[in-house]
Amino acid sequence: MKTRTFLFLLVIGQALCAQRLNNAQQIIDKLTTEEKVALVVGAGVDMTWLGEPAPAVPIIEKVPGAAGNSQTIPSLDIPAIVFSDGPAGVRINPTRANDPNKTFYATAFPVATLLASSFNEEVLENVGAAFGDECKEYGVDVLLAPALNIHRSPLGGRNFEYYSEDPVVAGKMAAAFTNGVQAQGVGVSIKHFAANNQETNRTQINTIVSERAMREIYLKGFEIAVKESNPWTVMSSYNEINGVYTSENHDLLTTILREEWGFKGFVMTDWFAGKDAVAQVQAGNDLLMPGTPKQTKEILAGIKDGTLSMEDLNRNVTHILNIYLNTLSYKNNVPSNTPQLQLHKAVAREAASEGMILLKNNKNALPLKPESNVALFGIGSYMTIAGGTGSGDVNKAYMVTISEGLQKTGVALNPTVTQGYDKYIAEQKAIVKPKANFFMPDVPFEEMTWTDEQLNTIAQTSSIGVFTLLRTSGEGSDRNVQNDFNLKPSEKQAISQLCKAFHKQNKPVVIMLNIGGVIETASWKDEPDAILVVWQPGQEGGYAVSDILTGKVNPSGKLPMTFPINYNDAYSAKNFPGKLIDPTKPVHPFFGAPAEVTYEEDIYVGYRYFDSFQVPTSYPFGFGLSYTNFTISDLKTEKLANGTVKVNCTITNAGKTAGKEVVQLYSAAPKGKLNKPSKELKCFEKTILLNPGQKQDIEFTITPYQLSSYDTENSQWIMEKGDYKLLVGTSSENLPLSATINQSATTVVLKANKVLTPKVAISVLK
Ligand code: BGC
Repeated sequence: MKTRTFLFLLVIGQALCAQRLNNAQQIIDKLTTEEKVALVVGAGVDMTWLGEPAPAVPIIEKVPGAAGNSQTIPSLDIPAIVFSDGPAGVRINPTRANDPNKTFYATAFPVATLLASSFNEEVLENVGAAFGDECKEYGVDVLLAPALNIHRSPLGGRNFEYYSEDPVVAGKMAAAFTNGVQAQGVGVSIKHFAANNQETNRTQINTIVSERAMREIYLKGFEIAVKESNPWTVMSSYNEINGVYTSENHDLLTTILREEWGFKGFVMTDWFAGKDAVAQVQAGNDLLMPGTPKQTKEILAGIKDGTLSMEDLNRNVTHILNIYLNTLSYKNNVPSNTPQLQLHKAVAREAASEGMILLKNNKNALPLKPESNVALFGIGSYMTIAGGTGSGDVNKAYMVTISEGLQKTGVALNPTVTQGYDKYIAEQKAIVKPKANFFMPDVPFEEMTWTDEQLNTIAQTSSIGVFTLLRTSGEGSDRNVQNDFNLKPSEKQAISQLCKAFHKQNKPVVIMLNIGGVIETASWKDEPDAILVVWQPGQEGGYAVSDILTGKVNPSGKLPMTFPINYNDAYSAKNFPGKLIDPTKPVHPFFGAPAEVTYEEDIYVGYRYFDSFQVPTSYPFGFGLSYTNFTISDLKTEKLANGTVKVNCTITNAGKTAGKEVVQLYSAAPKGKLNKPSKELKCFEKTILLNPGQKQDIEFTITPYQLSSYDTENSQWIMEKGDYKLLVGTSSENLPLSATINQSATTVVLKANKVLTPKVAISVLK
């Protein structure tokens, strides 16, 4: 053979070898058992930050700071796939030792609860697209978000990462976000599947819950997201459901997720979740993350001794490969490390203002009058919290605090107050030690105190008083009732003192809530003139607050959860966060101890409880004011032959300022064999920006499945006979329009499987 021909064949041969296979079955046919196991166990993670010993073999991080990687399979050139948190931004390290001249900051977007408060799926999709771009350009294949567990208790430490107490809001938001991310060629992991609604004892909690509550509340959002957005992956949760870890639960991961809902991606565990690797593989928990040598050993042993079948292993490998083949890493995408951060700033700012909620606005205290001079109080105004802690945190380049945001947009601040806080905060910073690692909760500084005399003088030289109250929480622990849900005495005192001083001079006071979850408002809400929930608004938060305060943006956010009067008014307070199985045993500070919690409120979560049992609230679900007002009219309903109902109405901006409104449709199902909540949200739509006098027609379609309830006895969704009232309005307590649809006979809408059955009797609320 001539040398030139030989070289040509060599080059072609090499090219063919290097070419990656693009078919899961062809890959599986070539894999050894060890390689298959390597595909179902992640590459491990460095836990030295938590005081764990350094790994024996150094862990190679493709993208430093990402939460985990899959293992590479060199024989078939399968690359490591990169998984990164999280719900408020792409959590990776902002700097790299091997590239010291560059930074890798990701945008800190508003927390999920704020995004949900927008009730605007378009906002979620845009934010998702921005996340997708950052993942793609920083080399992340799968984003570990969105998180859509239910706000079961006001104290849930991770509620800020989750959307709502209502599964339809949670599901729709998750689907819109997922569609945005995945359109960029990056996958998501919808998490934490399922019923992971507390942090206390989170890896050892057995959630005892009825099949109906699972179906109607805790699974519903995931079902919507799976069916409406085809997420690449699902992350199973830490907890057990009725005695079985979710990651070891075949009924949950295979029967419901794949067989009933048609999920096509793969399931990964939450980090170190579950106990039995073989049971996880069998259940259809395809990938174990972050992956440990012990899991590898157990799975190999299972295959060897026959406890684990090769079919189960092959099935999981197939699920994984089908997704991996579409990842950017598999397609050899070279990250540019230059995402469109400038553009995303605008996305974050717009989303933040869209989700802020005006709870009160007496005598038009807001928007600020031109030439206002603002006396800006509260640590939250100067150290505004962008988001919560733990894996939901983001390594951001900066945070625009409320004080910066206002000043940089030309709002005059009273210098006596700003200088007072600057000095106080500098003093506190010198005393308080920074936290040891990112998982530790942030401990905000104590509020600064002012004397009545000082406040009187300040009130003379200002036109309005504004106070920002802050709260933070995060992964690993739930919140407390005292000094957290309830205000600290010093905070209440600060609000009262401020209101007194300003009201004496007929000047208004605004309280802003820089919070990640519900707080008590009933005892003090009468004092200020206006209350604005700014949530934890991400890095552009200060600008977004300015947009709302100045009226550049008209507030249009709505509460995605109820604000109860007292913590104990929420029915979950009866058993949250459950009890230890053996109270004499020690409790690990991070991993807790074996415990159980019984969801006695059953389907009566959030407004479904307050409303059905007529328990008064401080602010109801779906509530939020605007600088304008809207009228809603012309409700028409039409029942189509297939049982689907078309609902039309018209919304008009009846005020003097352009604004957006959220039209909400609830259904009140007839009581029959099953008890029903007095109403449940079925559909919602945010209007476009309506000018004064402008109208918008809204159309909803509701299927019989959406109107049905879960009949546990026969494991099926049924629409019971009787009158279904459809209620339309702008909050769960303001529903001026209604129509009735009659269902002449009880019908079975969808058959399901008898799974997730509790092993003990639950005395559920009826
Ligand atoms: C959290 C997940 C997160 C994972 C990886 C876990 O502790 O519960 O939400 O995605 O860590 O960081």
